[in-house]
Amino acid sequence: HRAWPGLIEAYRTRMPVAADWKVVTLLEGGTPLVAAPYLSELTGCEVYLKVEGLNPTGSFKDRGMTMAVTTAVNNGKRAVLCASTGNTSASAAAYATRAGITCAVLIPEGKIAMGKLAQAVMHGAKIIQVQGNFDDCLELARKVTADFPEIELVNSVNPARIEGQKTAAFEIVDVLGRAPDVHALPVGNAGNITAYWTGYREYHADGISDSLPRMLGVQAAGAAPLVNGAPVKNPETIATAIRIGSPASWNQAVAAKDESNGQFRAATDEKLLEAYRLVAGQEGVFVEPASAASVAGLLAAHADGWIASGSTVVCTVTGNGLKDPDTALSGMPEVNAIPVDPVAVADALGVG
Ligand code: F0G
Repeated sequence: HRAWPGLIEAYRTRMPVAADWKVVTLLEGGTPLVAAPYLSELTGCEVYLKVEGLNPTGSFKDRGMTMAVTTAVNNGKRAVLCASTGNTSASAAAYATRAGITCAVLIPEGKIAMGKLAQAVMHGAKIIQVQGNFDDCLELARKVTADFPEIELVNSVNPARIEGQKTAAFEIVDVLGRAPDVHALPVGNAGNITAYWTGYREYHADGISDSLPRMLGVQAAGAAPLVNGAPVKNPETIATAIRIGSPASWNQAVAAKDESNGQFRAATDEKLLEAYRLVAGQEGVFVEPASAASVAGLLAAHADGWIASGSTVVCTVTGNGLKDPDTALSGMPEVNAIPVDPVAVADALGVG
């Protein structure tokens, strides 16, 4: 038995990391591929959840950030900057702390989940709220890092991010012994679909898997530029993590869809919330609202026949449900506390 060494060490030969580099890691990756019996029963498919909320800061961003911060530090950078809907900033803040460098984050005013903000605060990031959306923040971050090259941009336009995140595809093939028939995931800025497709292709080219999955990229209906085929000026969705109107990796996402014979689809907030509650309430896995897009996409694609029963399907659930307690608790009725009394408990349970 050996402890999980973090994804750079686990996949060292596939990572662009020099032998003498000091690796910045919180032992990210190695997340479980959890069978989803309720979804499997419902669809007649073999469904698995790749539970990325179990990474060190609670999202898949840690896979990219171990690579991005390792690369930055070993190239002599003393500061990192990102635009973020919350998870990237939480991850950047943690890895920058680990590396002993400065982290600054640009976030859309009032539109990030509470848990994510708490993480950036606790890791000591310089938090700058911007009067704009994610797309505005990313444009700003790109301009600032172009003017100040000593600051490294750690959004997914940084190629090291994609290299780190491709390892999720490796892990899935390593567990299943082959690629799934369909891989569903939420799409926002489109770095992650780019990364998964890179990973699946790499293993396929090296003969480690003998097939490739069809990629199912799922966006929120109010923020679905790839589905519409045009940028969305004012994206809106309850799934703030993917409230993005102009994905930076647009071309790579389209290539992943086309080359894999895949599909983009949109899910309404109502369908996202339905899937969000289903995953927590039926599978026992608490994810954040944006993460449930993969499951909403599976259900819709199965209903219209794009995914046939009998298929093996992996849904990436990208972030931990604890990040967004407000959405979880919204609509919960006020309940009065009971006296310290077993009869009162029995009454409350309706077994009195
Ligand atoms: N799911 C979650 C929970 C996310 O935080 C993100 C992106 C995505 C899915 C979409 O991934 O951008 O690679 O297509 N969050 C970024 C952030 C934008 O700033 O944390 P993508």
